[in-house]
Amino acid sequence: MKKNKYQLCIMINGEEKSLEIDPGITALELIRDILELKGTKEGCGIGECGACTIVIDGRAVNACLMFAAQLDGREVMTVEGLNREEELHPIQQSFADRHAVQCGFCTPGMLMSTHALLTENPNPDRAQIVKAVAGNLCRCTGYRSIIDGIEDAAGRIQKNENQG
Ligand code: FES
Ligand code: FES
Repeated sequence: MKKNKYQLCIMINGEEKSLEIDPGITALELIRDILELKGTKEGCGIGECGACTIVIDGRAVNACLMFAAQLDGREVMTVEGLNREEELHPIQQSFADRHAVQCGFCTPGMLMSTHALLTENPNPDRAQIVKAVAGNLCRCTGYRSIIDGIEDAAGRIQKNENQG
């Protein structure tokens, strides 16, 4: 017997996608295995590490904790959505400049949490930055550099906007 399928329509990284999925798959399985956007990582699979963080309608969420069907009609951004043609996104540039990347496994999730934070609050203080990435674990423990990178990114984005 043919299994029931769910008709899903999402906007992901600015592109509209319409596809039939198994209703039981997670958002993380959809993103990595079906859409082949491998930047989003799977760490714990139970909402504890933040490696799978994506942005949905402007908010950072753990893709491993959601069904793909819950993305229906939503605007989704993965780390690939930061890609620029010829240069790094300012958040990526700041992470690079501040040595905020070691093995890189946590980095996509950190970038997504940062993107959501700076969209909502372009000028966060250090405590707000720490809170925004509290759900993102870095097993290389480079937290100080990551916080520095996020602070730098906030300044860089504001400078870019002022230069307009
Ligand atoms: S893989 Fe989703 S929180 Fe760890
Ligand atoms: S840079 Fe290795 S887990 Fe964070």
